[in-house]
Amino acid sequence: MTDASIEWDDSFLIGIEELDYEHKVLINDINRLHLELARQDKKSEIEKCLGDIYARMQAHFALEEHVMKENQYGFFDEHKREHEKLLDGYTEYMMQILSDKVVSFSSPIEDALRYWVINHIANSDKKMSLMVQEKSLNS
Ligand code: FEO
Repeated sequence: MTDASIEWDDSFLIGIEELDYEHKVLINDINRLHLELARQDKKSEIEKCLGDIYARMQAHFALEEHVMKENQYGFFDEHKREHEKLLDGYTEYMMQILSDKVVSFSSPIEDALRYWVINHIANSDKKMSLMVQEKSLNS
């Protein structure tokens, strides 16, 4: 088992400072959960990590949706739907861990979460950021 579930890579940067910061923090939190699950030491820590990630995702999506609205981003609805799917998927994952159905973070669920997070940042968030930055250059 590696120390990190997701290795931060600067190619994840989207160019909007506060959102990049939040992406980094979210990935750190996911890696913290990965370690706690590997240790299987304190269930309370695992629960805390799960809750922290959920709260972080909610707050991050709210901020990002605010940025999109302020910039009248044309793909707002599509992007918001992705956020909702991510939160739904994460909630399902969280419930499975809390009910002890999944005891390891090295699971297909983790793979799906990792894929979603990285894919969403690298594709949807980047696309949004490029359009937002282009708009601010032209205004
Ligand atoms: Fe950074 Fe669209 O989530």
